[in-house]
Amino acid sequence: MKLGKIKKYVNEGNRISVDYENGKANVYLVTDEIVRFEIPCWMENYASVAIEGSKEKPCNYKVYDIDNVICIENQNMKVKISDDFFTEILDAEGKKILSDYRGERIIQRTLSDKSKKELAAEGHDVSNLEAHNYKVQIIKEIGEGDCFYGLGDKTGYLNKRDYAFENWNSDIPQIHNENMPAIYKSIPFMIGKTCDAVYGLFFDNTFHSYMDFGKENSNYFYYGADDGNLNYYFLYGKKMTDIIREYTYLTGRTGLPQLWTLGYHQCRWGYESADDIRAVAKGMRDNRIPCESVQYDIDYMDGYRVFTWDDEKYGKPGDLISELEKDGFKAVVIIDPATKKEDGYFMYDEGVSKGYFATNPDGSIYVNKVWPGDATFPDFGREEVRRWWADSHKILTDMGVKAIWNDMNEPASFEGPLPEDTVFEINGRITDHREFHNVYGHFEGIATYEGMKKLTGKRPLVITRACYSGSQKYCAVWTGDNQSIWAHLRMLIPQLCNLGMSGFSLAGTDIGGFGADTNKELLCRWIEAAVFSPFFRNHSAKGSKAQEPWKFDEQVMDIYRKHVELRYTFLPYIYDLFYQGLETGLPVMRPLVLHYEDDVNTYNLNDEFLVGENVLVSPVVEQGATKKLVYLPRGTWYDYFTGQAYEGMQYIVKDAPLDVCPIFIREGSIIPTYEVVQYVGEKTYDRLILVTTPGDASYDHFQDNGEDYQFEEGKYNLYRFTKTEDEKLVTELIHEGYKKYEKIDIRRL
Ligand code: GLC
Repeated sequence: MKLGKIKKYVNEGNRISVDYENGKANVYLVTDEIVRFEIPCWMENYASVAIEGSKEKPCNYKVYDIDNVICIENQNMKVKISDDFFTEILDAEGKKILSDYRGERIIQRTLSDKSKKELAAEGHDVSNLEAHNYKVQIIKEIGEGDCFYGLGDKTGYLNKRDYAFENWNSDIPQIHNENMPAIYKSIPFMIGKTCDAVYGLFFDNTFHSYMDFGKENSNYFYYGADDGNLNYYFLYGKKMTDIIREYTYLTGRTGLPQLWTLGYHQCRWGYESADDIRAVAKGMRDNRIPCESVQYDIDYMDGYRVFTWDDEKYGKPGDLISELEKDGFKAVVIIDPATKKEDGYFMYDEGVSKGYFATNPDGSIYVNKVWPGDATFPDFGREEVRRWWADSHKILTDMGVKAIWNDMNEPASFEGPLPEDTVFEINGRITDHREFHNVYGHFEGIATYEGMKKLTGKRPLVITRACYSGSQKYCAVWTGDNQSIWAHLRMLIPQLCNLGMSGFSLAGTDIGGFGADTNKELLCRWIEAAVFSPFFRNHSAKGSKAQEPWKFDEQVMDIYRKHVELRYTFLPYIYDLFYQGLETGLPVMRPLVLHYEDDVNTYNLNDEFLVGENVLVSPVVEQGATKKLVYLPRGTWYDYFTGQAYEGMQYIVKDAPLDVCPIFIREGSIIPTYEVVQYVGEKTYDRLILVTTPGDASYDHFQDNGEDYQFEEGKYNLYRFTKTEDEKLVTELIHEGYKKYEKIDIRRL
């Protein structure tokens, strides 16, 4: 796609349109920090799925040209646009931040035909030996130490440098390894870090896309897509936290979750009856392991028909739910989009009569196989279909269901992928599976969220497996079918940190591992590493070893209980982080590089993370290890359990026997904690305990009913705690609109 020489440009409002010999391009000043670059080679006026409504703000800038280079300049940066839509972005001092790569794409490996044949003969993949040019493509220069973060749930390490990925939502039951190009979600957002700058790029295009961070060639990184417009946003910032704030300004922020949703959840694909669910709920209470829900996987449905209930195995609809609710358990049920193709089944009949399912190009309903056998796929891109799906949740909320878990929404299909030409619609515009695939889960998420919000009046918990950028406004996520292997315990840290940096704050992995058999040590280390996972659920697959904690020995139970209790202790801190995230877009779980970006030791730190800014967690993720090498960044850090102080900017070796996960609190911290309960709602939280470390500190704590939207009308308290060198704590109520705590105590570390 060579645009050729610049003919002229026009500046209208926030847009600079450039006419080239072979087409046109647009540059939009969205805000003083965000610039959008577009070649509308596929469609004029493309309406983003990820970005809702106009984000344009009045911008102060000037445009001029020098030697046929268009320069757009504002207080933060200078954007230079040349022939072929080559762009270069400099900061206000004239230092280069990011530049298009002007050379050719060259794959850095050469192979003789003989070698290729030999490789192929043994079954190796030889499809990637040539550079593949995409219909939409942009190539940028890489500097020597550049690092790349973000991209949502992609596997592997924190820093994506030297790896390549694809955005094509994929249900992959095999082991997720670090080389895997595509997984369940498509979040084409990256944060680039050069030796002296940071920036963000959001490639807003929902077709199958490709991102290579120097794997093909160490001189450049590239983005390619099979179709659509070239449409990307450059995000300027002085710090990485600025980039995340801007990205979530564009695509939206994770809403405030209900407090109970942040507690512990137990699940297994394999609870096959009311008695199974009852026994697990009882196990939780008998063993004094706090728990909010024993989740209902697909077996609760009648023959996997969505919005039905198997009353033979699970009793009269609503009975089990209200029985367990008395003991504090909230019902969370799975919903798969694939709707059984069966005359007489109400969802199918209604969907057929109203024309709600995706079709083949000839207008017939498209059918593939999923859990219920032959199944059809609601076209969630249409508002009326979303409304129908949303309203269908009444069947579940009438039974007492409190939250929904959306699965198989890549969409997964057992008889090969949906054909490219399967017909969908996006808000009135007809399209096909190529454009729609990556947003199928996103639109289903909107339907579910709207339905649950309307039906319950509460802040919905919708857990989804597949999604696109922007889905964080509606959905929590989990990382799908991981395995009970040490590699996947390790991977949860970079995966959740990158999801967080991509706007998905409410994220988790299946604790203990989904597929394969867990074991005592692995389960203990997993619950330790997951204490601060924003979404906190143990889940496993049919046929794998059971992983409820009492299936092992007393030691496992004690370790498990200790860590679930720790989670309940830290609940108000985690909740505060979500509250702060409404303004900042910052996640709960953060890689150290996010707050210590000038500290090179943090750039590739995969086995520890921060919770907010004040808590550092360095779990043991190696089999057999009883000591942990911990990196502490600048400042003084206090061991949460012993209070021992450590100076930062050094590695320490920390004793970490099986029951210990090293946790450190930063100097000058005030951390709000609660007493342990067996479930949120068991007692009112009338006592707040502030854990403090030496040093000046100021901390704002949010308190509301933890459930609905009344806080938006001012029904909340905001406390400001301040502590100075003499360690005296001053409490101010900077907003009062809710019942106050009866007691505020201090625990000094
Ligand atoms: C998928 C989900 C998994 C679920 C199973 C059965 O594999 O990822 O979490 O348990 O389907 O519904």
